[in-house]
Amino acid sequence: MEIKDEIEALRAELDRHNYNYYVLSAPTISDREFDEKMKHLQDLERAYPQYADPDSPTQRVGSDLSKEFQQVAHKYPMLSLGNTYSEDDVRDFYERVARSLDEPFEIVAELKFDGTSISVIYEHGKLVRAVTRGDGMKGDDVTANVRTIRSVPLRLIGDGYPEELEVRGEILLPWAEFDRLNAEREEQEEPLFANPRNAASGTLKQQNPAVVAARKLDAYFYYVLGDHLPSGTHWDNLQQARRWGFKISNAMRLCRSIDEVFDYINHWDTGRKNLPVATDGIVLKVNSLSQQQKLGATAKNPRWAIAYKFQAEQAETRLNSVSFQVGRTGAVTPVANLEPVLLAGTVVKRASLHNADIIKGLDLHIGDMVYVEKGGEIIPKIVGVDKKARGMMMGDEVRFIKKCPVCGTPLVRIEGEAAYYCPNDTSCPPQIKGRIEHFVTRRAMNINMGPETVEDLYEARLVTNAADLYELKISDLMHLERWAEKSARNLMESIRNSKNVPFVRVLYALGIRYVGETVARRLAVAFRSMEKLREATVADLLSVDDIGERIAESVRDYFSDERNIELVNRLKAHGLQMELPEEDRKQEDGKLKGLTIVISGTFAKHSRDEYKAIIERNGGKNSSSVSGKTDFILAGDNMGPAKLEKAAKLGVKIMNEDEFLKMLEA
Ligand code: IVH
Repeated sequence: MEIKDEIEALRAELDRHNYNYYVLSAPTISDREFDEKMKHLQDLERAYPQYADPDSPTQRVGSDLSKEFQQVAHKYPMLSLGNTYSEDDVRDFYERVARSLDEPFEIVAELKFDGTSISVIYEHGKLVRAVTRGDGMKGDDVTANVRTIRSVPLRLIGDGYPEELEVRGEILLPWAEFDRLNAEREEQEEPLFANPRNAASGTLKQQNPAVVAARKLDAYFYYVLGDHLPSGTHWDNLQQARRWGFKISNAMRLCRSIDEVFDYINHWDTGRKNLPVATDGIVLKVNSLSQQQKLGATAKNPRWAIAYKFQAEQAETRLNSVSFQVGRTGAVTPVANLEPVLLAGTVVKRASLHNADIIKGLDLHIGDMVYVEKGGEIIPKIVGVDKKARGMMMGDEVRFIKKCPVCGTPLVRIEGEAAYYCPNDTSCPPQIKGRIEHFVTRRAMNINMGPETVEDLYEARLVTNAADLYELKISDLMHLERWAEKSARNLMESIRNSKNVPFVRVLYALGIRYVGETVARRLAVAFRSMEKLREATVADLLSVDDIGERIAESVRDYFSDERNIELVNRLKAHGLQMELPEEDRKQEDGKLKGLTIVISGTFAKHSRDEYKAIIERNGGKNSSSVSGKTDFILAGDNMGPAKLEKAAKLGVKIMNEDEFLKMLEA
């Protein structure tokens, strides 16, 4: 076979596997086989650059090029839908359509996905452009970012598609990814995303496609436009779009009566809670395109479609006070203290206020009756104020503080960020204590001490930074209240043991802003020692995979501060691990040596890929299928039923991620 043909065949094959995996969720080959094929294609493309193709599946990783978005006009305006909130409104819509058409009609009922809308344009079966809704007439060209979304086909499958095709849909951040991303941001003390919708649109507007690629967005499509469509009905066009490779929800239903519409609504009002992505209602559309045309549109909304919004779970309660917490990086987070209220099965006492802009937008006063909502977010949020409930005596307006609530230093706002910071990192107590607390956590140095001990040691001025821990003496501890010899010895031993903690975790323990566990690993592997990392320039740092400007500058800032250099030197003098051990590159005798492990499902603490890397680093072997050789299955949520059945039959042990991490920790 000609090389060119071989490359093309591989591309087509990989496209098909991507489609099976990301769209159908039904892979037909193992991840490993997939990776091998991908690697082979990459090698061929590297060897034969003359056959390069921007639509090749190898190009999905996102380049590091950042550019401003261009605005492009929509060929067909991107209308939004009229919203309704009650059964009566739905009935009105149905009757209005019936009256206007005066002939039989069908309604397609669909889920209303709660993400950010996108229009994708294909020419001769190739993705040429992806544009956001913008103002409906023109939007941002976010093609480079959308190309990284695995469920968006770069090339259509099969044939019969019109020369020019426009398909609209919703870009979403699945709940599991949203939770993972927020947990990561929480750890880094970055402002949390309020909901997956904000996270999705924020991600799509990222200037760096590599960041977008890492966030694992998904996309569902629900509207096909263009001349020469395959069918005269919306339903059939979507079915065809699915065959061309688009992800089309299976939750659609063709309704022939208003009762069927209500059945659908009632079913998904509760059923949606088990979906992997956020939905906020349902959409009803007249099926026949000619009937759609007859019904037409107003300036803003089509008359042939309507959205019915689900009632979000809401409660009303009193805002008692607002507190401002200072974290280890100095980030100040506002928290609303509420009169306890029952909401979606749990008692809510606190709600997130996110940042100064949100507080201002709400026009909050102490004592206000506020609406709290739980849209599936981790922390409930205040969505509005019941202004009618305000009496004559209105409480004080809630304002974001100007000075650090603990040390009094004027707060600063980093450009482009919503959060305020206390810049007094040397002597602001919560920052000092926070850094020590972070240093000792299980995933960092694993020193057995809680926040109260940190508090005691700090109050006694025995420990004001991480290095001081290694200079503690039993007698120091015995002088403190509540300390007996046994507990003092235990702590000393735990501190001593931490000297064996590997370099990666030492680096993470330093608490450099934006250097979480994943970044710490990347840096440790790239630079191999604290020494080398300290000497790295911003350019050196930027050359490492996944390290962008923000992280590079933060690392550079950290090591240009004399006090940090001194801290690191002292830690080194106390014998902490400051280099990547040779074995870390080729782990032969790790904790998982000789074990064959199958990963299945989705996880909260690490991605599947991270777990695979962890297994390999610890000497274990990843396998994609369950067999008699499998030692155990590392199972997340939604483990495949086939694997589950096979595991039960073979008596293979199933471990969840907490058990697994604990085993490694042991
Ligand atoms: S149809 C002309 N179908 O909801 C019809 N929209 O205001 C265009 N949405 O902007 C939209 N799920 O972002 C349609 N199944 C669905 C949808 C959906 C979510 C979003 C879309 C649109 C907004 C409606």
